[in-house]
Amino acid sequence: MQTLSQISQSFGNYITKQTFEKEPIALYEPITYILSLGGKRIRPILSVAAYQLFADRVEEVYPVAFTVELFHNFTLMHDDIMDDAPLRRGKATVHTKYNVNTGILSGDAMLILAYEYLTSVSADIKTVTKLIKVFNKVALEVCEGQQFDINFEKINKVTISEYLRMIELKTAVLLAAALEMGAIVANASESDTENIYEFGRNIGIAFQLQDDILDTYGDSATFGKKVGGDIAQNKKTYLYLKSLELLSETDAQQLFDCYNTSDIAEKEKIEKVKTLFDKAQIRSHAETLQQEYYEKAMSHLNAIPVAEELKQPLYQIASELMIRKV
Ligand code: IPE
Ligand code: IPE
Ligand code: MG
Ligand code: MG
Ligand code: MG
Repeated sequence: MQTLSQISQSFGNYITKQTFEKEPIALYEPITYILSLGGKRIRPILSVAAYQLFADRVEEVYPVAFTVELFHNFTLMHDDIMDDAPLRRGKATVHTKYNVNTGILSGDAMLILAYEYLTSVSADIKTVTKLIKVFNKVALEVCEGQQFDINFEKINKVTISEYLRMIELKTAVLLAAALEMGAIVANASESDTENIYEFGRNIGIAFQLQDDILDTYGDSATFGKKVGGDIAQNKKTYLYLKSLELLSETDAQQLFDCYNTSDIAEKEKIEKVKTLFDKAQIRSHAETLQQEYYEKAMSHLNAIPVAEELKQPLYQIASELMIRKV
C-alpha cells in the first residue's frame, strides 16, 4: 500500500512521462504549459487512494486518474476565460499568456485527450463502459454548475441552497467521480462505490467552500490566483449570501449595492465588501458549514468495511483540504 506522499510521487512520475509536444505548437503548447504549473493534483490522487482501498496494482488506475486531471485542467482553462482571471497557479492564465481563442481550442483538445486516456484503460468492456458513463455524467454536471455560477453573477435572488447545488455541480461531483472511478477500476462493490462517491461529494462541497474563503481571505503571495476575484465578478458565494442574512439592514444594503453598481473602482469594491464580510464574521460561519460537510464525508468513509490503514491517505487528504492555503 502506498502512503499519500508515495501516491503523489508515483503519480507525479507518471504525469511527467505524458507529453503533448506535437504540431501545431499553438494548440499543444498551452496544454504542456498548464500541466507544467502542476497544481495540487487532488483529483487523481483521490482516484488512486480510492482504488487502493480495494485493489493493489495502482498503475492500473493511472490512465483514469489522468483522465480526471486532464478534464480538470480543461475546465480551468475555460473557467479562467469565463471568470476573466489573470492568474492561475501563480502564473499567467492561458488566455492572458496566449489569447482567448487559444484557451478555447487547447481546452477543447484537452477534453478529447481526457477521453483518449479513459478509453486506454486496461479493463474489460463492461468496466470501461461504466467508466465512460460516470465520466459523461460528471462532465455534463460540471458544465451545468459552471452555467449556474455564471447565471448567478447577474441575478440577485440566489438562495444558499441554490448556491450549494451550484458548487456541488461545478466542483464537488468531480472529486466524487474521481473517487468513484478509482473504485470502479478496482472492482469495488456497489455499496462501497456509493459510499466513496458520497465521501467525495461532501468533501468536495467543503473544498469549494474553502476555495471561496481563500478567494477573499487568501494570501496573495502564496494563493496563486487573484485575491478578491470572486468579489470583482459579483460571485454569489456563501460569503456574500450569508453576510446578507447576518448583517444589519443598512450594512446588508451596502453590500448589495457594492454588487449592483459599476460606479465603484474594483479595488475599493473589494475592500468595502471585505470589511462588510468581516463585520458579519463570515469566515467563521463559512468554516462551520465546511466542518458539517467534512463530518458527513467522514461518515461515508467510515462506512466502508476495509482496513483502517488503507483509508489513511484519504483521511489525510480530507483534513489537509480543510486547512489548505493554496
Ligand atoms: C481549482 O481547483 C478549481 C476549483 C474547483 C476550486 P484546485 O484548487 O484543485 O486547483 P489546482 O489543480 O490545485 O490548481
Ligand atoms: C471553478 O470554480 C470550478 C471549475 C473550474 C469547474 P472557481 O471559478 O471558483 O475556481 P477558481 O477559483 O477559478 O480556481
Ligand atoms: Mg468559475
Ligand atoms: Mg474561476
Ligand atoms: Mg474560486
